[in-house]
Amino acid sequence: MSTNAQHPIGVLGAGTMGAGIAQTASKAGWPVKLFDINQSLVDQAKESIAKRFIRHVEKGRITEEESVACQNRITTTTSLDDLSDCDLIVEAIVEDFAIKTKVLHELGTIAKDAILATNTSSLSVSELGTACGFGDRVVGMHFFNPAPIMPLVEVIRGKESSEPAVQRATLLAEAWGKTVVHVADTPGFIVNRVARPYYLESWRIIEDGVASVDAVDGAMQLLGEFRMGPFMLTDLIGQDVNVATTRSVWQRLGNPSRLAPSAKQESLVEHGNLGRKTGCGAYAHDDKNNVVPAIIMDCQEIEISDELTSAINAFCLEASCTGGTMLEKYIFARVLGGIMNEAMWAVTEGVASAKDIDTAMKMGTNYPQGPLEWADKIGVEKVQRLLSALNETVADDRFASPPFGAVSA
Ligand SMILES: NC(=O)c1ccc[n+]([C@@H]2O[C@H](COP(=O)([O-])OP(=O)(O)OC[C@H]3O[C@@H](n4cnc5c(N)ncnc54)[C@H](O)[C@@H]3O)[C@@H](O)[C@H]2O)c1
Repeated sequence: MSTNAQHPIGVLGAGTMGAGIAQTASKAGWPVKLFDINQSLVDQAKESIAKRFIRHVEKGRITEEESVACQNRITTTTSLDDLSDCDLIVEAIVEDFAIKTKVLHELGTIAKDAILATNTSSLSVSELGTACGFGDRVVGMHFFNPAPIMPLVEVIRGKESSEPAVQRATLLAEAWGKTVVHVADTPGFIVNRVARPYYLESWRIIEDGVASVDAVDGAMQLLGEFRMGPFMLTDLIGQDVNVATTRSVWQRLGNPSRLAPSAKQESLVEHGNLGRKTGCGAYAHDDKNNVVPAIIMDCQEIEISDELTSAINAFCLEASCTGGTMLEKYIFARVLGGIMNEAMWAVTEGVASAKDIDTAMKMGTNYPQGPLEWADKIGVEKVQRLLSALNETVADDRFASPPFGAVSA
């Protein structure tokens, strides 16, 4: 590790993300100025960052001297004026358009040359840029939680973002050890959009009374080698957080049926069953991390047409290295088919390149393979045949795929 930075990095907001981003930049050798609205918040953040560096020393990842140097590179402030000499400032404050706009405007006036990077998950980077009056210097830098560990950063180009601002944000994230993907300023960017069917199609399987939550989780882990099934994962994320992301992406994309929220999941949230944090969600959790399904169902036997059976078998033969029951294959094909379809729509609509979509899904959500490279291995014709057979079984046209040929790598 060396201090290879001339100018400090500013981080605005010392909460979950801000503290993680400050830790990431200081570990890579950058002096960091960490801002929050009161001293106790920045002190608290510095203390938790120090604890994490000390844990690295205990695990033998860094030396005691390096830990002290990393901690010393972070200074704290409650005055925006102190950020005037920053090269780039990452804004990680509350997800509120008016507050972010006001703060970005003040920052742009104080730090006249700084790139203003917003870590927003659900607001438009272009709209923030225009509203704050410094659109050419505003870019999106979307880190994932926990920021020091998650390797991905989505760099978002706003309508007015200058090329040097996009390039500088990219170079800095890479210098901090991150993998960067470039994304157009579209709802959910890559990861929060393309991952939606993993959750939503799984909830629709429950709503259809076809399989239980543990059966869906099991099928995705067995046939797809996903590290965690969709229900266990949403219990961990928080069903409320997951529902809020779905609602935001769905509404901002103009309410497509593919991404419509699940009534069953929303009702779980309305009843306060938010997942592990409340002890109950899709599963009931005890304090020893034991779980049992909390959604009790009387599952119906599914009727699958000959054409759909044949399309599922052809898809699964290439998509999975493991055999399974027809129900497991049906679940896996429905959920993975939905993800591939969303990835195809995203690339067709110019959200990002196929390569960046695959990279983002592997690094931002730990998918075993990128959805588009997975579809290529299966054969795009087989994927399209599955989607069209599945679309015959639904009333909302949600498996309709982009025109064949529109999807290219
Ligand atoms: N938590 C996540 O998993 C995650 C992931 C990616 C992106 N994000 C985005 O990162 C941003 C921050 O999220 P978080 O989870 O760290 O939130 P958080 O609530 O943990 O922290 C936000 C911090 O911003 C500070 N703040 C509030 N108003 C401020 C103001 N006017 N000026 C300066 N600081 C102010 C708060 O005091 C707080 O310390 C949001 O835009 C969120 O959408 C969050």
